[in-house]
Amino acid sequence: MLNILSPSILAADFKHLEQDIKAAEAGGARWLHIDVMDGVFVPAISFGMCVQESIRSCTDMYFDTHLMITEPIRYAGEFARLGSNGITVHVEACKDVKKTLRTIRECGCRAGLSIKPETSTDSIRDYLEEVDMILLMSVEPGSGGQKYLPESTDRIREVSRMIKTSGRDIDLEVDGGIRLTNIHEVLEAGANVIVAGSAIFEGDIRANTEDFVKILNKV
Ligand code: DX5
Ligand code: ZN
Repeated sequence: MLNILSPSILAADFKHLEQDIKAAEAGGARWLHIDVMDGVFVPAISFGMCVQESIRSCTDMYFDTHLMITEPIRYAGEFARLGSNGITVHVEACKDVKKTLRTIRECGCRAGLSIKPETSTDSIRDYLEEVDMILLMSVEPGSGGQKYLPESTDRIREVSRMIKTSGRDIDLEVDGGIRLTNIHEVLEAGANVIVAGSAIFEGDIRANTEDFVKILNKV
């Protein structure tokens, strides 16, 4: 599978969001990770449809929408209409996971399924037929800038093995606390899509992105 960087705009400066996105794009990022939080599934509220709609007009990047919201099936169609290319939902947030994933695909998006650090990796097993991507959280969802949970590495290995056994073409994305110091560990364990928020948007965005992309293209 191709290695991909998905910079999370949660760590961008919203005063000049377009400028920050374009800096990441200039640095070689092709995906953009969009963290939507509803204040119910996670304590924080981030942003929603209006922001995604606005930024859709300033870039052609792949929109990797991560819905940290309760019953995300309610909003799949709306985010698809507002330009998501992939929509990821949490197994813990859906009443009917299969129906939710099918709805996302019916809307023309790639379907992703995410699990929080304390959720068993076995909980995704029944859905491998319905997904294009698994998103493994390596921090508790809800905020950026947290430390990578070291037990995540073994979980990446488990899910990577599960995906290989399934024989299906499924991306494995990891989200939370990834920096240049631990990216190799995450990739070696089997991840191929790397989310990075603070490590990209704090400091020189273009240079940070270039550093990540160099590593991802080498492995
Ligand atoms: C956490 C979000 C992450 C987060 C990543 O709830 O899903 O995407 O913004 O940010 P960093 O890389 O700063 O941990
Ligand atoms: Zn995320």
